[in-house]
Amino acid sequence: MPQQVQGVIAPGKNEPVRVETITIPDPGPGEAVVKVQACGVCHTDLHYKQGGINDDFPFLLGHEAAGVVEAVGNGVTDVEPGDFVILNWRAVCGRCRACLRGRPWYCFDTHNARQKMTLADSGAALSPALGIGAFAEKTLVAAGQCTKVDPAVSPAVAGLLGCGVMAGIGAAINTGQVGRGDSVAVIGCGGVGNAAVVGAHLAGAARIIAVDIDDRKLETARKMGATHTVNSRTSDPVEAIRELTRGFGADVVIEAVGRPETYEQAFYARDLAGTVVLVGVPTPDMKLELPLLDVFGRGGALKSSWYGDCLPSRDFPMLIDLHQQGRIDLGAFVTETIGLGDVEKAFARMHEGDVLRSVVML
Ligand code: APR
Ligand code: ZN
Ligand code: ZN
Repeated sequence: MPQQVQGVIAPGKNEPVRVETITIPDPGPGEAVVKVQACGVCHTDLHYKQGGINDDFPFLLGHEAAGVVEAVGNGVTDVEPGDFVILNWRAVCGRCRACLRGRPWYCFDTHNARQKMTLADSGAALSPALGIGAFAEKTLVAAGQCTKVDPAVSPAVAGLLGCGVMAGIGAAINTGQVGRGDSVAVIGCGGVGNAAVVGAHLAGAARIIAVDIDDRKLETARKMGATHTVNSRTSDPVEAIRELTRGFGADVVIEAVGRPETYEQAFYARDLAGTVVLVGVPTPDMKLELPLLDVFGRGGALKSSWYGDCLPSRDFPMLIDLHQQGRIDLGAFVTETIGLGDVEKAFARMHEGDVLRSVVML
């Protein structure tokens, strides 16, 4: 039987979000209904509300979530009711050219639930944020979006791996391939950048230089493992990073803002043959201009990081284990826990840079 639950809806461009009753269908073939326990507030939710992703209003927001599988549809074998799972927004298909070449973390044909959740009063179909929609008591997803992890970890912490924290850690360990002894610079130390600091630390980087324009973020970066910090409002970040790396630049520079000027800083703050990782997401109007001779002459790799190039089935359980062992502290990303009705206020706090993550608890 379809169920009715409460969920946070973005009704139209820039309109305040509100809690509404939504209808969740029973899971069809390959689908699962998940009882959501916690869901972090991410910038992408705000971008949906602002109409910055697409115009498919109304949206059911929320996508950094953990919870318990309540029911599964036909043919689902990887998860079963009662499993504690983190939701991912890149369920791999196993059949596309990337998957068939053994590179499923690049899957070009990721999928979501086929059925629609709807608004209870009007019956209007909802567009779930990143195919998840987890600012809700329950949500319908593709079973492949459920990644089983150790239930001993708190849902607030586990859920964060579903998006920003995974993107940042993965930018360092998967895309950037940071290795023992490397020097790493991270430009932009919000939730994603600070997670990149954690990833670099985990990978054994010898020097981790955190760059931001906000001293509060730099203070957090220190706690996360940064060995040096640079406020790029008051000093030139390229000069500063070179000075801290014997004049050469860092082996890996991770851009976690998503702007042309910070990308250019990353490009020039990197040592010859080093790697630039772009994990910040630009907007369609942004353009980059670089001397092609410098692109050639400086060598190395210019890479983009999609969701930290993660493979949820491989990376989520591994990072939960490391957290449980105390080797990374994912709890440090949870600034506050809030209720379903507090998402609009959380957007404002995020906009002011007051929080790494607000997490909605259900
Ligand atoms: N130079 C350095 N840091 C900057 C600059 C700049 N010019 N402009 C902004 N920042 C810093 C902010 O002070 C903030 O600490 O970048 C950080 C951005 O962090 P958040 O706003 O918390 O965003 P976050 O969730 O970390 O995401 C960062 O990654 O996944 C993408 O869409 C996401 O593009 C966004 C980026
Ligand atoms: Zn695929
Ligand atoms: Zn997100």
